[in-house]
Amino acid sequence: MDANAPGQDIFVTSDKRRINLSADWFNAKAWPMNIGSYQEFVLRVIVPQVSDKSAHQKEVYPKGFGWFLKKLVTPEVIYHMLRECGADLGGVKRMLDIGTGPAIIPRAFKLLGVCDEAYGVDIQDRSGDLPDPQFMQLLNFMQNNLLEDSHGSLTTELLKRGDSLTAWTTPYGLLINADLSKNFSLDDYRTCHFLDYELTGEPFDLIVTYTGMCYFDMDDYFEKIVNMLSPGGIHYVMDTNYYHVYGESLELPMDAPWLHARVTKEDLFRYYQEKRPKLFPYIEQGFFTKNTHYTVRDVIHCARQHGLKLLGYRRSYRESELETFQYSSGDNLKFAAKTVLEDCRVLNPQVELVDFLTQNWTAVFQKDGA
Ligand SMILES: C[S@@+](CC[C@H](N)C(=O)[O-])C[C@H]1O[C@@H](n2cnc3c(N)ncnc32)[C@H](O)[C@@H]1O
Repeated sequence: MDANAPGQDIFVTSDKRRINLSADWFNAKAWPMNIGSYQEFVLRVIVPQVSDKSAHQKEVYPKGFGWFLKKLVTPEVIYHMLRECGADLGGVKRMLDIGTGPAIIPRAFKLLGVCDEAYGVDIQDRSGDLPDPQFMQLLNFMQNNLLEDSHGSLTTELLKRGDSLTAWTTPYGLLINADLSKNFSLDDYRTCHFLDYELTGEPFDLIVTYTGMCYFDMDDYFEKIVNMLSPGGIHYVMDTNYYHVYGESLELPMDAPWLHARVTKEDLFRYYQEKRPKLFPYIEQGFFTKNTHYTVRDVIHCARQHGLKLLGYRRSYRESELETFQYSSGDNLKFAAKTVLEDCRVLNPQVELVDFLTQNWTAVFQKDGA
């Protein structure tokens, strides 16, 4: 009998490993942002991010006041992480934010005096999401309400939340004292694919990518970063983790935990064709990452090959997942630490158990030659 036929609960990989499948795992997949299915996730979230301009007219990202207010913590987190890694920010004249979206990070950095000139690039034009006057209103609101504590519940909410992707929290210790009479406008918002960005003027002393490296082939990405950095320039990059249980930003519904990491991309596509044929066209659209089966150490290795020195890196975890896989039952831990790890190491011998529980990672690099 053909083990890969629909209805069979085994998938045989091209290197003849037999992987147990379970519809329970497939059905247990939860969705963010009130999304109901993988099809909807691909059409609403992924397609507008990665395809041509016409698709970008669909609204994906929230634009509400509360949403932006919460995002104000991100530049503070990035700033402190840079400092903890020992990055010298004293000589930063020009900074670039890749996949800048509403450009909160570069404008906050300029306002704080971390850089003199702030630039942003995004494949979609999201410069109108938070124009300067609204950004000023937001900063004003934050300064007044947090300092005066005249909005108690909001203050509590803001302080406890932290930055959801790096799982770091910090008091709004910088922006709360920022001088709002200072010019914080972006010096240029470029709408283009980052790899097509043409450098005009001096190279950048600081380049930040807060979720976005996954859109590029890793070698192309670091080659471009190095070409655009000044000697001694700093690069901060935070991204989602391929080895996370559902492929993190890929959000793959699968009939086995970590299936995308346990089999090659070709086998994964064959699995969908054979076992979940209705989903296959969406998988082809939704599987947008250019790199597969890479850990944060592979990222660091690639960056080094391109001449970047690692200053430091850190992982973030979701406590609920540590609870489920690490602590709640020995069975879960054994399954991840034996079955999944053995499968994954066939394709990448570097993988460790910690990679399965990492949601996002951050790394800070420096280009030689200061
Ligand atoms: C998850 S959002 C992050 C936005 C922003 N960094 C923030 O923290 O709010 C990723 C952004 O990367 C942009 N992006 C996707 N592919 C890109 C590309 N090839 N070049 C430049 N930006 C890209 C998307 O349009 C989107 O605005």
